[in-house]
Amino acid sequence: MTARFPLMLAAFHRLCNGLEPLEPRPELDYAANYLYLLSGQLPVEEHVKALNAYLVMLADHGMNASTFTARVVASTESDIASAVVAALGALKGPLHGGAPSKVQDMLLAIGTRERAEGWLREALARGDRLMGFGHRVYKAEDPRADELREIARLADPQAFTLARRVEELALALLEEQKPGRHLYTNVEFYSAVVLASVGLPGDFFTPTFAASRVVGWTAHILEQINNNRLIRPESEYTGAKEAQFVVIEKR
Ligand SMILES: CC(C)(COP(=O)(O)OP(=O)(O)OC[C@H]1O[C@@H](n2cnc3c(N)ncnc32)[C@H](O)[C@@H]1OP(=O)(O)O)[C@@H](O)C(=O)NCCC(=O)NCCS
Repeated sequence: MTARFPLMLAAFHRLCNGLEPLEPRPELDYAANYLYLLSGQLPVEEHVKALNAYLVMLADHGMNASTFTARVVASTESDIASAVVAALGALKGPLHGGAPSKVQDMLLAIGTRERAEGWLREALARGDRLMGFGHRVYKAEDPRADELREIARLADPQAFTLARRVEELALALLEEQKPGRHLYTNVEFYSAVVLASVGLPGDFFTPTFAASRVVGWTAHILEQINNNRLIRPESEYTGAKEAQFVVIEKR
């Protein structure tokens, strides 16, 4: 599955654009092949390095929502493909792996450093979440964000300058408007800059995340089925205890 993900994605991309899918080149590594299969051009070394770093960093991350989903499905003794399809469904949500394309939308909508503060203030006033900030587990900066910030700085200095300004303002505004919530930059913020810098379109950010995370999903699935027990959390009913049922007699 890990080998097939980039093949399927690139073929889909090319067919959607009226182009024939390409055959992978055995002398290229995973990241280089992916970029080659999408564009038909041999990628430059900097793009391969940046994408490789991204793919390795995102490959696994504890019991995140999609990995947990995959393990739940695997624990029912369903098949590995079903567990991965379920994980994909969880990943694509904007609170999980759907976030980087939303970060890209935000950066494109802001456009210039001067517009950043007004745009962010308006978004927060509407009650929107700023994509690329906050994390369900980390209540400090996501350590992967720091690595990706450096990769983004090298990969596209111009896009980085805008992203850095937006990040600084967003952190200041979140601290001002959501004090004590511990909202910091997460992995998705600079993922958007890195993935755009290697030439990927926004609607390929989440699929590319999946091409990395499939490594973690399948490793977790194998671990689950090698020592399986059905995952079945309990839930606590907190509703009314004295429910009244009205029987309506048929005429
Ligand atoms: C990731 C995320 C779902 C984690 O949520 P969480 O830890 O459950 O945090 P909560 O939903 O309990 O939010 C706590 C408070 O911070 C606010 N908040 C959390 N993330 C926020 C964000 N990115 N922008 C603005 N406000 C945010 C919530 O509105 C809430 O405010 P309230 O206490 O006034 O109601 C959340 O931070 C988020 O939606 N981030 C944006 C999406 C994103 O980047 N996802 C990728 C994650 S790697």
